Amino acid sequence: MNEQSVRFEVEDQVAWITLNRPNARNAINRSMLSELGACLAMLMGRSDVRVAIVRGEGKAFAAGADIAEMKELSPLEAEAFARLGQRVFTALERLPVPTIALIHGYALGGGLELAMACDIRIAEESAMLGQPEVTLGIVPGFGGSVRLPRLIGQGRALELLLTGDKISADTALSYGLVTHVAQAGRLNETGMQIANRLKALPKTALASVKRSVYDGSELEVGAAQSLEATLFGLAFSTPDQTEGMAAFLEKRAPDFSRR
Ligand code: CAA
Repeated sequence: MNEQSVRFEVEDQVAWITLNRPNARNAINRSMLSELGACLAMLMGRSDVRVAIVRGEGKAFAAGADIAEMKELSPLEAEAFARLGQRVFTALERLPVPTIALIHGYALGGGLELAMACDIRIAEESAMLGQPEVTLGIVPGFGGSVRLPRLIGQGRALELLLTGDKISADTALSYGLVTHVAQAGRLNETGMQIANRLKALPKTALASVKRSVYDGSELEVGAAQSLEATLFGLAFSTPDQTEGMAAFLEKRAPDFSRR
């Protein structure tokens, strides 16, 4: 039996999604995308999960789409591959729970596209990030040319996309492409510190923040604000609002753990 190319484990309310093709630097092929999609479906069925962490086994987060598999694709197959990757990565982005990408080694091409589909990106200090597709004679296919300009601005995104340059974790931090740089060997620990804080926060409020940001970014300003107002109103139907505001007024820490 083939070993799974994506591992899915839940521990103490955290779902760990681990890319597991270390010998190919976690190059993303069609079967890995299908397995990732299946993991996301499993995660949606787990009401105990409050945070998801995406990481890579071995020496890299992910070195991009699998070049050996892609080399043989016809134009129609390549388009279908891109659409599959986009569908799975968008499903990851739209998970109701916060997601964290732990980037070590390399996040290139499809690997960076995967990381950009997560809410929070943390890079180990030696990591390198980039979209080198043009150097292979192709363009990003899993949403890179869409998410990168939205995250870091069109000017910097275009330079990265046009040159294919790899940037360091510190440069990625200065661009806002990652929001934390972890010292060598402390990537998991840094990720867990953030995951533990997110775990203690109310699930519905976190899901609504995500909806407001991601759905709102696809709307014009008036419609986006209207969505925000709807989600704001919805929050007042949750026990978390009752608890959060009562706790503030009673000068105690809120307890959002019951849900
Ligand atoms: N696809 C297929 N195999 C890959 C791969 C990829 N993207 N990246 C690495 N591998 C394989 C290598 O071929 C090698 O296999 P063998 O041991 O069988 O020779 C193995 O992984 C280890 O790779 P290296 O020896 O090159 O490892 P390294 O640590 O010295 O270098 C690296 C790592 C800088 C990431 C280098 O492997 C590299 O440049 N990889 C390709 C990066 C790239 O171009 N990514 C973009 C892909 S296109 C894309 O992603 C399209 C899209 O948007 C959908």
